[in-house]
Amino acid sequence: MALFERENADFRSDVATRALSVTVVENQFVEHVYDNLAKVYDLTFGPALHPGRLVAIERMGVRLGDQVLEVGVGTGINAALYPRTCQVTGIDFSAPMLEKARERVVSKGIENVRLMEMDAASLTFPDNSFDIVYAPYVISVVPDPVKVVQEMRRVCKPGGKIIVLNHFRSANPIVSRLERAISPLTLYIGFKSDLDLPGFLAQAEMKPVSIEKVSFPPIWSLITFIKQ
Ligand SMILES: C[S@@+](CC[C@H](N)C(=O)[O-])C[C@H]1O[C@@H](n2cnc3c(N)ncnc32)[C@H](O)[C@@H]1O
Repeated sequence: MALFERENADFRSDVATRALSVTVVENQFVEHVYDNLAKVYDLTFGPALHPGRLVAIERMGVRLGDQVLEVGVGTGINAALYPRTCQVTGIDFSAPMLEKARERVVSKGIENVRLMEMDAASLTFPDNSFDIVYAPYVISVVPDPVKVVQEMRRVCKPGGKIIVLNHFRSANPIVSRLERAISPLTLYIGFKSDLDLPGFLAQAEMKPVSIEKVSFPPIWSLITFIKQ
């Protein structure tokens, strides 16, 4: 069974320990979803999510020679947005998504992006490897978002930026209820709609330097951390 709903009682507990979503998922299920989405991803999730991607690249402030890691690179939809003067490593665990990314970088002649098959929760890079570590639209689909962001922090150099672009559960109680109710279903199109931002930050023990709402409607959060 790839997913199931948790008991509502879980959500009454403390921010530092409560479940971050009503939906539990396993890597195998997510991988299967994205293997199937690979052919249509750019059409279905391309334009709608693009405004957030553009703001994220701007906020990244990439400098000459920076080493950038994109976690969950997918079809490489961000590849052409990075300045050619930095070195980008994109990782993803879906081979069909990565194949699309390879086709894209070759067809566009992008030479500063390398692609690797890897699990975001278990990065094979040494500590302090990257100046910028960026996860666009990934955190809400992984089984353990806290583990993934902690891995992102581990491989980021001290003073480097960790950037998460994602949808989180609304603070509005009515919208929030709806997002919880549909979360087991949204998983089938590649994300959990009810990820709890305060719980995520508390459990990861990470303090952002900024959180801004991006895109329209502004239901996406761009969160920036600086590794101390
Ligand atoms: C919604 S797509 C985001 C793609 C791209 N970053 C973008 O801006 O559109 C999520 C991607 O994360 C990948 N992914 C999900 N869980 C992963 C994991 N545990 N390790 C590596 N990649 C993962 C999926 O295969 C998919 O390509």
